[in-house]
Amino acid sequence: MQKILVTGGMGYIGSHTVVELIQAGFDPIIIDDLSNSSVEVLDGIEKITGTRPQFFNFNLCNDVLLGNFFQNNTDVRTVVHFAASKAVGESIKRPLLYYKNNLLSLLLLLEQLAAYEDSKILFSSSCTVYGQPDQLPVTEQSAFKQAESPYGSTKQICEGILRDACKANPMLKAISLRYFNPVGAHESIQIGELPQGTPNNLVPLMAQVAAGIQPELKVFGSDYNTRDGSAIRDYIHVVDLAQAHVKAVHRLLGNKQRNNYEFFNIGTGNGISVLELIHEFERVNKLKLNYKIVERRPGDVESIYADTSFAKKELGWQAKLGVEDMVRSTWKWQQSLSSKK
Ligand code: WQD
Repeated sequence: MQKILVTGGMGYIGSHTVVELIQAGFDPIIIDDLSNSSVEVLDGIEKITGTRPQFFNFNLCNDVLLGNFFQNNTDVRTVVHFAASKAVGESIKRPLLYYKNNLLSLLLLLEQLAAYEDSKILFSSSCTVYGQPDQLPVTEQSAFKQAESPYGSTKQICEGILRDACKANPMLKAISLRYFNPVGAHESIQIGELPQGTPNNLVPLMAQVAAGIQPELKVFGSDYNTRDGSAIRDYIHVVDLAQAHVKAVHRLLGNKQRNNYEFFNIGTGNGISVLELIHEFERVNKLKLNYKIVERRPGDVESIYADTSFAKKELGWQAKLGVEDMVRSTWKWQQSLSSKK
């Protein structure tokens, strides 16, 4: 079976992608420093797939351990690179940590891959690179705006590193997937999001308010120029997102690219407001959420959702799961976490 290195494979999106890679017949190997996950995730992956992937517990910025890994795994030439710091708010408080971790890890990976003629890398990017697009739905040709956070800036810089590395080395093949807002959990409820501390993102916060872990949900702004005044995002089920990675890996391995560096929007194409999502969460899960409308959060964009035609045409991928699956699996996962405590 084709070995695929999955950095950050114990994380939320990483673990769901490891499951889909195993079920697609690949042999994923995980490197993860467990800074935003726990080793129990391996149990969840094994319960779903019957396979316990190899797991190496270290940070990619440790160039000695990374070099040893590649020396001992010379048949690993394809990498799905999730490992990065990803909390927008934290990145504003600790920019140097974000620039060092997110940029150095990619650079050290590319240094290792440079030893091979046939190396491939799939990069975890974000719709954050667009800022507030001038036109919606946003296409892959939309210009990058000034990033609203060091986190978003690291994603823009990493895409530039991949673009230039691929230009300099036609044998290197790379794809960036620009995620919109990943939410939900695997239907087995064996894996899901494990927020460390108080979540920053809307959906895990909604789940914790519903579970009584957080007292109330603050809706950041109802004075946006949108249909109900709250901000609009393109929420995508994490399993749909994981399956997009399998499609992109096949494209890389099948030498099907039009250029050796490509990038795709991975969203549903549907924009949903904060208040609409709250009401859907309440309706589907038959509960009431305690929320209060407060002032806008600095750095938030008003509205963003994806034009998904390029991924549909070139990757042969489109999202299949709807908002009901997203909010139902989120709540079932939260209930399973609460029952484990
Ligand atoms: C969604 C909407 C908030 C919390 C960020 C990153 C992106 C990706 C996902 C990593 C916004 C509103 C939120 C709350 C609220 N990160 N909100 N009350 O900011 O769209 O995207 O996370 O992969 O790269 O930029 O996601 O979930 O924080 O916010 O009203 O307590 O919910 O204002 O409109 P965001 P989010």
